[in-house]
Amino acid sequence: MTSEAPGECYVYMTLPGATTAVTAGRYALSTGRRGAPEGRFVYGRSYLERPNAVALDPVYLKLGPRTYSTISLRGVFGALRDASPDYWGRRLIQHHLDNAQPTEMDYLLHSPDDRAGALGFGLNATPPAPKRIFNRTLELSRLQAIADAILTDEDPAAGNHNEVDDHDQVEALLMIGTSMGGARPKAVVEDDEGLWIAKFNRTDDAWNNARVEHAMLVLARTCGMLTAESRVVQAAGRDVLLVKRFDRERTEQGYQRARMVSAMTLLRADEAYELREKWSYVLLAEELRRVCADPRQNARELFRRMCFNALISNTDDHPRNHAVIARETDWALSPAYDLTPSTPVSIERRDLAMECGDAGRIANATNLLSQHARFLLDPDEARAIVSTMEGQVRGLWYPTARAVGVTERDCDRIAGAFAYPGFSSEYARQ
Ligand SMILES: Nc1ncnc2c1ncn2[C@@H]1O[C@H](COP(=O)(O)OP(=O)(O)O)[C@@H](O)[C@H]1O
Ligand SMILES: [Mg+2]
Repeated sequence: MTSEAPGECYVYMTLPGATTAVTAGRYALSTGRRGAPEGRFVYGRSYLERPNAVALDPVYLKLGPRTYSTISLRGVFGALRDASPDYWGRRLIQHHLDNAQPTEMDYLLHSPDDRAGALGFGLNATPPAPKRIFNRTLELSRLQAIADAILTDEDPAAGNHNEVDDHDQVEALLMIGTSMGGARPKAVVEDDEGLWIAKFNRTDDAWNNARVEHAMLVLARTCGMLTAESRVVQAAGRDVLLVKRFDRERTEQGYQRARMVSAMTLLRADEAYELREKWSYVLLAEELRRVCADPRQNARELFRRMCFNALISNTDDHPRNHAVIARETDWALSPAYDLTPSTPVSIERRDLAMECGDAGRIANATNLLSQHARFLLDPDEARAIVSTMEGQVRGLWYPTARAVGVTERDCDRIAGAFAYPGFSSEYARQ
């Protein structure tokens, strides 16, 4: 069964410095001549007349009176896909629509407005008033219990298939952050400082993810990277990671929003296997140089991030885990987020998810250094960054983890992730 989805919607934009949205244009999804979905987008005339109008993304949908069309990505423009829910949110929306097969338009229209970035979607020519009421951090225990119920329901081995058919419960879950991307259960919560993404631990996690991810963000900051602010709190006796949203700024009038576009979009890539050759730090550095107001700083920041991911064996560093944002008119790399170590068996060779040099995805010093010029670094600068960071990660991961409450047992579990032997160029020469 497929749902009766509308074929068109309005796209709303919260302009820089504003706390309410305006209508930016119209998006239509239809079946093209060859039976494949085709997307069309056109900016509204009154939007284009605004002196402070900004484009939906930094590259593809430039401000102008033309009709844009695309057949790639099932007809969904990258900037819209980035505002659409991912694995976790899609599962919930599917539940909500009684398991009908939702269309891309359903996903856009059914996800709540706390999505990443400055865009919104709806069927009315005028945007709805912004959402004012968010779940409070005090409600985390309840949100965690609902997320647990969804996860149990998804696990065939658990045999609890109807647990989340309760409409109210799914409805509640839809309101807790389905529109944020990613696969891990999460909710958007508010406290007096602003909005946070709450990431819940899963019972099948190999270690306390909330504390370990927090430790990685702290370690990355110590290594000189720009990172999302984070902290660990308790809900019903369990740890929850709170990551401060860098695309929302609380003001007296409401929330200002930053535009946000993933590296997946900048690279014109997809999850599809054929497009994975575009998953590349080197190509991403080139894109950053094109779209960022300060190419040098952003290319260097990306180089540091690539080195850090190699040094903590973060093999989940795919292009949705990198983004650019624009709070005003200028674009820049967003603070780093979703930094997770892994412990592959091999101590000789590990691969990142994206290409990092002449030898492809291999996460070692020689490969990271091989394309230094594309990151606007001379060889000595690049070598200095790699060796300083190698020393920092090797020496600081353990005290940092312990200081934020990662247990001795979990430290044993993650120890193999850091500055693994095959990383350093000396290892290759032995
Ligand atoms: N601090 C943040 N501020 C704004 N958006 C964020 C932040 N952290 C993550 N995001 C967005 O939310 C998505 C999911 O978060 P992420 O931490 O990657 O979760 P997961 O571990 O499930 O992949 C990211 O892909 C990014 O688009
Ligand atoms: Mg992620």
